[in-house]
Amino acid sequence: MTARLFLLLAVSLPAFPETGNAPCARCHPAIARLYAATGMAQASGRTTPANPKGSFAQPTAANSTVTPSFELQLAGTSRQLEWFLGSGHIGRSYLFRKANQLFQSPLSYYSEPQKWDVSPGYENRPYLELTRLVEPACLQCHSSHLQPASAPQPFLEPGVSCERCHGPGEKHSALPTPRNIVNPAKRAPIPRASVCAQCHLTGAARIARANRDRSSYSPGAALSDSLAIFVWNAPNADSPSATSHFEKLASSRCQQASGEKLWCGTCHPAHADATPAQYNQTCQTCHSPGSCKANAGDACITCHMPKRAPTRSIEHLAFTDHSIPRRPIPATGPPSTGTLKEFWTGLSNPRDTAMAYAAAAVTTPSLRPAAYAQLQAAAPANPKDVPLLAQLAQFHERLGRQEPATTLYTQILTLEPTHPAAAINLGTALIRQGKSTEAIALWLRALANNPSLIGARLNLAVAQFQSGDRPAARQSLLQVLDYEPNHPTARQMLNQIPE
Ligand code: HEC
Ligand code: HEC
Ligand code: HEC
Ligand code: HEC
Ligand code: HEC
Ligand code: HEC
Ligand code: HEC
Repeated sequence: MTARLFLLLAVSLPAFPETGNAPCARCHPAIARLYAATGMAQASGRTTPANPKGSFAQPTAANSTVTPSFELQLAGTSRQLEWFLGSGHIGRSYLFRKANQLFQSPLSYYSEPQKWDVSPGYENRPYLELTRLVEPACLQCHSSHLQPASAPQPFLEPGVSCERCHGPGEKHSALPTPRNIVNPAKRAPIPRASVCAQCHLTGAARIARANRDRSSYSPGAALSDSLAIFVWNAPNADSPSATSHFEKLASSRCQQASGEKLWCGTCHPAHADATPAQYNQTCQTCHSPGSCKANAGDACITCHMPKRAPTRSIEHLAFTDHSIPRRPIPATGPPSTGTLKEFWTGLSNPRDTAMAYAAAAVTTPSLRPAAYAQLQAAAPANPKDVPLLAQLAQFHERLGRQEPATTLYTQILTLEPTHPAAAINLGTALIRQGKSTEAIALWLRALANNPSLIGARLNLAVAQFQSGDRPAARQSLLQVLDYEPNHPTARQMLNQIPE
């Protein structure tokens, strides 16, 4: 549950109608029962008093607590934690709603120490934030039948539903034949692998192709039609992570020497967790026991697929080494960086490559010059590509190049009038030019769509104060505190503006 960096894209409706698990379970009851016990089937759901994981009796972190009815209490305010992500083998993250938006809880439940603590990515913050929007990608991997962001329920089907691997099941349920449902195992290698890769291949950057969004993939297709997934050019130097199994397996001799025969489904049964004995038997479908030089017995995976802890993670997690080495590879230093290549195809168009470098540069600063140059080179050919223009504008801005940044923000707002980053940053530029009335109007519009933009509302309060409108400034600060009751700046400013 490492905090993952994804651009905040609106979750759009799935590209196909989903019928849900219920009809599938009626005709395939044994599979449905078996599958229900897996982590994937339980990867998300609604919190109910019947599923409290662990004890609520212990004190929780940072003067905050979670009650047995999943009420998060903090700084004199409370939020109802309505949904969870994660089966709970490792831990669970929680979500709450305020107005028309869905947020991540700053406290998570950790199964091994059996306690609530600060969520990953919230450590070392001055206060526990309540305005982190849930990344659409979290829901995309952990839940099914997603709903639009403003709907009362974020998803209609908890966990990974049958249709996430088998495709739309409406026609098949009405008239069941093998031809109107996807059986991944019967597909060509890339569409077959894509079924698992939609959630198990994060790479160094996942880029939605121009004019496609990340939810447009449907089982049976190649994932690379809708997403370009970039990995480091030297995958083996990296340490394993929650979603690096593809890169690792691709670097194994087993995969390289047996090609299309080996895929995730060779070792992982479709609807159940395998036992160690089953994994070891799978090795022996290709290797005779005598092929092991060490001739060390049947427990193949204990030596050849050891668990390793990721070097970057602060959590006590370990992942199975899918590079299937001859001898365990000791944990190396920091993951390798350098150049990126697109997984599967090995090459990509200049636009997607520029977007990948820009995304990876967030955590790998050495990529920034290359990312900036590539974005600039790709922009002229893609004048209506909002994600590309927004990235380029942010690079201009970071390098202090106000003028080209402002031009781009204006351009973006003509293409997408509610683009939050463009509205916020263009407002700041307008303030600098002394145009505070225009800036205030722009910020109010952005906030109407996206009321939890705390930075924008603080800027708005300052602009309102400076233009002499004290009541409006106070009102804005109270709204900040409604979302972030502990916000130190907002509290201080409110004290300084008499009623
Ligand atoms: C009305 C009963 C019925 C319902 C509802 C139903 N199935 Fe089936 N399904 C069948 C039958 C019967 C077969 C075998 C068809 C054959 O072999 O001719 C089958 C076959 C399959 C296969 C194998 C296809 C292949 O190529 O091997 C898959 C996968 C499958 N179903 C998944 C699903 C999923 C997912 C759902 C829910 C969206 C579902 N089924 C709903 C009756 C049903
Ligand atoms: C829609 C997203 C999604 C798809 C598709 C998907 N997975 Fe998963 N998978 C997950 C998530 C999320 C978890 C973690 C579940 C948890 O514990 O909360 C997971 C966990 C697992 C685990 C760990 C054991 C377990 O059950 O928790 C294995 C093994 C696995 N997946 C294999 C596969 C394979 C093989 C495929 C393709 C046939 C696949 N997955 C397709 C999202 C997905
Ligand atoms: C690309 C797909 C993907 C995305 C995006 C993703 N996850 Fe996961 N998540 C997984 C997989 C796969 C695992 C299981 C790893 C394992 O079994 O070792 C997992 C594990 C977890 C777990 C631990 C589950 C357990 O086994 O107890 C939690 C909690 C969790 N994720 C929360 C989140 C949150 C919150 C986000 C968004 C910030 C997120 N995930 C984004 C795929 C994803
Ligand atoms: C994580 C991906 C995934 C999920 C989720 C999933 N399946 Fe499957 N399913 C597969 C794969 C892969 C195969 C092919 C197995 C093989 O033949 O090796 C398969 C095969 C099948 C088959 C035909 C072969 C058989 O074993 O009879 C049926 C029927 C089926 N699934 C039904 C379901 C139903 C019903 C659900 C939901 C309860 C479901 N599946 C959920 C991946 C998945
Ligand atoms: C689909 C067939 C297949 C499966 C399943 C398979 N392997 Fe392999 N593996 C190969 C091939 C082919 C090679 C290369 C030729 C060789 O060394 O025998 C290989 C090579 C290896 C090597 C040598 C690695 C190196 O770097 O030289 C080891 C160790 C290994 N396999 C262990 C395993 C273990 C353990 C399992 C089960 C977890 C397994 N394999 C499953 C096909 C497979
Ligand atoms: C050669 C056999 C083999 C293949 C192929 C394979 N796995 Fe695994 N996988 C394992 C073993 C063994 C474990 C450890 C299971 C355990 O600890 O119970 C594992 C564990 C996992 C886990 C749980 C988290 C972890 O790292 O321990 C996930 C998720 C997973 N595999 C995903 C995948 C995906 C995705 C693919 C395809 C890219 C894949 N696996 C291919 C053997 C395999
Ligand atoms: C106690 C640890 C251990 C166990 C258990 C084990 N191996 Fe190995 N295996 C090794 C070591 C160490 C080597 C490397 C020997 C060398 O480099 O000279 C090796 C080498 C191999 C190789 C490469 C042989 C070659 O030189 O081409 C294969 C394939 C292999 N093992 C498969 C297996 C299979 C399959 C199993 C389960 C039946 C298994 N191993 C069980 C430790 C183990």
